[in-house]
Amino acid sequence: MAALRHNQGMTNQRHNELPIGVFDSGVGGLTVLKAIRDALPCENLVYLGDTARLPYGTKSPASIERYATQAAAKLQDQGIKLLVVACNTASAVALGVLRSHLAPLPVIGVVEPGAAAAVAVRPGGRHLVLATEATVRLAAYRDAIRARDPGARVSEHACEMLVALAEEGWDGGEIARSIVRRYLDEADCREPDTIILGCTHFPLLTNTIQEVAASGVVLVDSASTTAEAVQHALRSDDACRTTTARGTLRMLATDGATRFARVGGRFLGQALSAADVEVVDL
Ligand code: DGL
Repeated sequence: MAALRHNQGMTNQRHNELPIGVFDSGVGGLTVLKAIRDALPCENLVYLGDTARLPYGTKSPASIERYATQAAAKLQDQGIKLLVVACNTASAVALGVLRSHLAPLPVIGVVEPGAAAAVAVRPGGRHLVLATEATVRLAAYRDAIRARDPGARVSEHACEMLVALAEEGWDGGEIARSIVRRYLDEADCREPDTIILGCTHFPLLTNTIQEVAASGVVLVDSASTTAEAVQHALRSDDACRTTTARGTLRMLATDGATRFARVGGRFLGQALSAADVEVVDL
C-alpha cells in the first residue's frame, strides 16, 4: 500500500500506471531517459526539456533553482509516480529543494549515482569530474564522492564548450579532440583513474575523451546507475507497472519542437519528429 502515499486516494494499480517524470534543461537528459527505458521498458515515461532556458550551467544558483522548481511542478501536474532530475546542474543546485517541495514524491538526481559509480570503479582513486560551471562551483560531485569514500581525490573542471559541441554534432574529429585536449590540459589533475562525465551532453563525446585521455582512464557516466536507482526505488515502493506491454513515452519541451527532435534524436539514439514533441509553458 506504500504507493498510496504519493497520489492520495488512488489505487496502487492506478498509481503504478503513472509515468516516471524525467526533467532536464534541454535534450541532454534523453541519455538518462534512454538508460531508464532500457532498464525498465514497461514503464510509462514523460520527459520535459526546458529548451527555452537552456543552458542552465552558466546561470546563477537562484535562477537554476527557480527554473528547476517550475519544471518539476509542471511534471508533477501531469501526474507522475517518481521524478528523475536528469540534469547534473539542476541536481547539483536544486535536488534538496525539489525533494522538500515535492515530498512524498520520490526524487532522484544524477550526481549521487554518478559518484557511486566512480567510487565503485576505483575506491580511494583519483577522479576528474568534467561538468558545467554551476556544477563545478557547487562541488556537488566532490562532496558526493567524499561522503562515500573519504580517501578519494577529486578535481572538477568546467567544460562549457563541450555542451555546444555535442549539440552541434561535432563530437568527433580534430576540432573536438583539440578542445577536449585543452580542457584536460587545463584541468588540475594529471593522471586520473576515472573521468566522470558530469554533464548530460558529455556521453556523446565518450570516444573523443577516451582517445585524448591517458590510456587506462575509466570514463564514468551516471545514466545507467541512475536507471538502477530508479529501478530500486520503484521496487522498494512496490510501484512498478505490472504488465509486459512496452511503456509509452511523451515528450514536452518549452521551446522549439523541430530543434528538439533533430538534436534530441542523437541523444536518444532514435529518430524523432517535431510531431513527437509538445511545446508547453511553465
Ligand atoms: N543538462 C546540463 C547538465 O547536465 C547541461 C546543459 C546545461 O547547461 O543546461 O549539467
